[in-house]
Amino acid sequence: MQIAIDGPAGAGKSTVARLIAERLGFIYIDTGAMYRALTWKALACEIDLQDEEKLYELARSTDIYFAKLADQQKVICDGIDVSEAIRSPLINAHVSVVAAQPRVRNVMVKKQQDMACRANVVMDGRDIGEQVLPEADFKFYITASLDERARRRILEMEKQGFAIDEKSVRQQIEKRDRMDQERELGALKILDDAIVIDTSSLSIDEVLNRMLAVIGET
Ligand code: DC
Repeated sequence: MQIAIDGPAGAGKSTVARLIAERLGFIYIDTGAMYRALTWKALACEIDLQDEEKLYELARSTDIYFAKLADQQKVICDGIDVSEAIRSPLINAHVSVVAAQPRVRNVMVKKQQDMACRANVVMDGRDIGEQVLPEADFKFYITASLDERARRRILEMEKQGFAIDEKSVRQQIEKRDRMDQERELGALKILDDAIVIDTSSLSIDEVLNRMLAVIGET
């Protein structure tokens, strides 16, 4: 079984995707973390992020997978646990450029499809319902207002101990929305067969219950 969850940054996708996966005993695949891990590697290797050929080669040769350690899902990139490093402001600022390269996306989509072949999955991202799992059993589009998404991202970054400038967080989310929606391949959009949930004024439990009702698990 495949559950596809798409939506903009900060809408709460990964929180509900993880909880739904736990509830159903499915594997959770955070595709944003995969683009983030690749961006981390590219920066570590000092690769020019506009150089599509080099990024494509890097995407092909980089091993990215998820592992459960002490009950937490970790992102492993070439054997290194990058789960925390990929959430830094530096990665936030550069990941959309990497994710916009069509050849990089083709490699990542293939990796994601391979992962989904092997188990029941809940997968979240931007292009899951359209490109990665077009035959998914359920497709959700999780969204929230820009103000609410900025508020959540600020809280998250404060918790991680990053000094933040509220105005720039909001501007960065707006910029990322634009890049995610306007790129040629794998652009974020609401599909006709997706169920849309606006989480701006909903608790996590409320979102979860709505999704489980749709899936038929309540
Ligand atoms: O969901 P996130 O913020 O961790 O995603 C990080 C970036 O990766 C974001 O700019 C969008 C991009 N992304 C993508 O292009 N396609 C996906 N399937 C998942 C994320």
